[in-house]
Amino acid sequence: MSGAGAVASRSLWPVRTCGGLRTLSAYGRRIGVRFRSSGMILDSVSRAGVGRILRVDHAGEYGANRIYAGQMAVLGRSSVGPVIQKMWDQEKDHLKKFDELMVTFRVRPTVLMPFWNVVGFALGAGTALLGKEGAMACTVAVEESIAHHYNNQIRTLMEDPEKYEELLQVIKKFRDEELEHHDIGLEHDAELAPAYAVLKRVIQAGCSVAIYLSERF
Ligand SMILES: [Fe+2]
Ligand SMILES: [Fe+2]
Repeated sequence: MSGAGAVASRSLWPVRTCGGLRTLSAYGRRIGVRFRSSGMILDSVSRAGVGRILRVDHAGEYGANRIYAGQMAVLGRSSVGPVIQKMWDQEKDHLKKFDELMVTFRVRPTVLMPFWNVVGFALGAGTALLGKEGAMACTVAVEESIAHHYNNQIRTLMEDPEKYEELLQVIKKFRDEELEHHDIGLEHDAELAPAYAVLKRVIQAGCSVAIYLSERF
């Protein structure tokens, strides 16, 4: 393999630019992204796949932020306020990371962002109006859906774990934190919410629709 070919095979989502080969700090200190001028390095299939992954994950983290904002608007001064705030703070970090990755890989956000803004806040505030149990039921439902979604992505990316190593690390870390949020919801009486099973099923059906739409639009 030629020198250039060897570099290409090791590159993490290399992108075509007018410049030569250079390295960006895409994931803070941990990830290098190589830009090449020779073209044909970027696999259009994997680029489209990564774009889809980043778009839907960015939308999901944005939606999660809006849900916790809605919950805090109702329950911020209650006994569970600090618990919700702590989870929201982690969601802010998740969103920040995907914001950075969207810029680095030139992926546009979903056109549905204004919709998720309103729907997310309404879902958070609406379930919080049922009481802290309602808010926690919402957290359990949403976080379970997001963790399941991240697991699906991890399985897909594991088809080429070397190529997607850094993205895998990010998604695995976030998946673990979403599962922690899920468990916090259960620990705070989510299952005592009115019509818990129905509420959870309806919210998770909504999450599936949101994922489907955000991947495509
Ligand atoms: Fe998150
Ligand atoms: Fe979460």
